[in-house]
Amino acid sequence: MSFAEELKGRSLLTLADYSKAEIAYILELADKVKQKKKNGEMYEPLKGKTLGMIFEKSSTRTRVSFETGIYQLGGMGLFLSSNDIQLGRGEPISDTAKVLSGYLDGIMIRTFSQQDVEQLAENASIPVINGLTDDYHPCQVLADLQTIKEEKGKLEGLKLAYIGDGNNMAHSLMIGGAKMGLDVAIAAPKDYQPKTKITELAKSFADGTEVIVTEDAAEAVKNADVIYSDVWASMGQESEQIEREKAFANYQVNKDLLAYAKEDAIFMHCLPAHRGEEVTADIIDGPQSVVFQEAENRLHAQKALMIALMG
Ligand code: CP
Ligand code: NVA
Repeated sequence: MSFAEELKGRSLLTLADYSKAEIAYILELADKVKQKKKNGEMYEPLKGKTLGMIFEKSSTRTRVSFETGIYQLGGMGLFLSSNDIQLGRGEPISDTAKVLSGYLDGIMIRTFSQQDVEQLAENASIPVINGLTDDYHPCQVLADLQTIKEEKGKLEGLKLAYIGDGNNMAHSLMIGGAKMGLDVAIAAPKDYQPKTKITELAKSFADGTEVIVTEDAAEAVKNADVIYSDVWASMGQESEQIEREKAFANYQVNKDLLAYAKEDAIFMHCLPAHRGEEVTADIIDGPQSVVFQEAENRLHAQKALMIALMG
């Protein structure tokens, strides 16, 4: 079976469900659609198709990249804020899934619980794409892998260090990185480390590479090719901001920490960023930062994903 046949109709809930070869196929397709866009070539393989986009949390990149992405592919996106659809008034996810399956060709959802996304996918007869939960952010990591490949010319054999909260980004980077042959080191304070179950899962995908979780940021960054950071308080954790600022004080990506990395290391961040907290302005706005290329690649990577799943 070809990858196109293999992926058609599938959902993306976490990269754990995708093989290395399937992820590589999507990344290659992402490069192709990016090139077509740069060449000004019309490419509309999803003509007439619709993507519903359910948002229970805020978004700039995910919303705009999915909505313009489906439009550029010939289809249409519908922004479905959970405040405006009956889901927000208690209509069951399973009913929502069945109803939307009758209208749409795909659903993207950003919400809190991963179980809700799983329930949506179980009850939908169309592909469901995870646009971020408290546990995972797989679409971001597809764009991240595309960006790393563009910058370094390869993925295998590189070391990625993630500094900060053991959150959705840490989880998805561990899984995506381990699958694609990168060493992944996560540095997080003791009480904010990634979930043990997800760390073990990521380790099970590592084939001759390492997945390390440590409290020592300098150790994680040592010899890294990619330094990654994310906010200290994620969406839904705003009330913990002050206590988190204290807990994460030694986990800021700054000049001193970056000195442990390789000289040609790149800095990445899923954005939105808080300058002066998880990263200093001189780093995120400096020559090693690729954050805006990374943000742009959300568009290209997700177009490839939609073609693969909904084409
Ligand atoms: N990185 C990311 O998902 O950004 P948004 O929250 O703006 O969608
Ligand atoms: N960890 C962040 C990522 C935002 C894209 C959050 O969940 O808010």
